[in-house]
Amino acid sequence: MTYQHITVKPMAGAIGAEIFGADLSQPLAPEILDEIHQAHLDHLVVVFRDQDLTPDAHKAFARNFGGCHINDFFPTVEGHPDVQLVAKNPEDTRNVGHVWHTDVSYVAKPPLGSMLYALEVPESGGDTMFASMYASYAALSDGMKELLEGLNAVHSATQSFGVNATGPEMQAKNKSMKFKYSENAEQDAVHPVIRTHRETGRKGLYVNRSFTKRFEGMTPEESAPLLQFLYDHMARPEFTCRVRWEKGTLTFWDNRCTHHNALNDYQGQRRVMHRVTVLDDKEAWPALTESAA
Ligand code: SIN
Repeated sequence: MTYQHITVKPMAGAIGAEIFGADLSQPLAPEILDEIHQAHLDHLVVVFRDQDLTPDAHKAFARNFGGCHINDFFPTVEGHPDVQLVAKNPEDTRNVGHVWHTDVSYVAKPPLGSMLYALEVPESGGDTMFASMYASYAALSDGMKELLEGLNAVHSATQSFGVNATGPEMQAKNKSMKFKYSENAEQDAVHPVIRTHRETGRKGLYVNRSFTKRFEGMTPEESAPLLQFLYDHMARPEFTCRVRWEKGTLTFWDNRCTHHNALNDYQGQRRVMHRVTVLDDKEAWPALTESAA
């Protein structure tokens, strides 16, 4: 794909690109948005540097792609229930998302993507790893693809946000991780293990360590060996890229075909991000629809 209005610089072989030439704090021309949309579909994770975004501007950019999800569990930015606060203070030992996962896979209609914006970053460390679920699917043998094709998996928020996960002991030790327990944590959602991306038609491996509990129709114990194989396979280095954050970086990833892991290698330092999670509620991409009309 050639781009006329933005510059797209791939970050790794399978996934990730930096985009230059877009000021996300301003309304964007349809031709620029079209190219950002295309780059997002092509590279799965797109990174914008040196942005200056208020929570309102962050949400306005997100709304080009879909509505803003309200998360039942995360702390949020005051006055913005749809902007999640992802923070780690110097005294905290744990961080948010330090396990391979795809955001909010525990609901019936998982989100399109997430936009994470860096306000405060450690001097070093605190990078986020991303991996392509297309690439991990494509690298499986035909036999394994066939076996997985008929399987569904049960996803749930219990392990991450259930009463035991967010109890007073964990919260006392990690004051910035103020997860709210909600009964919604106990609900399950079922998704195909091989999920077809609605826009690209490509297949990806849709299971993740945080939220997948078991295969449908099997116990967790029966499911564990195959899930463990898939998790290890999906994190192979050649399927990944790594985002090094700077203040003002916004990274937009596709939750339908990627998983990610926020590294916790910056003890004693502070890292503060705002996250907007974008719903998969746009049936058609407006600019493309208009230009096709
Ligand atoms: C997340 O898992 O959404 C947070 C990722 C990060 O903080 O890098």
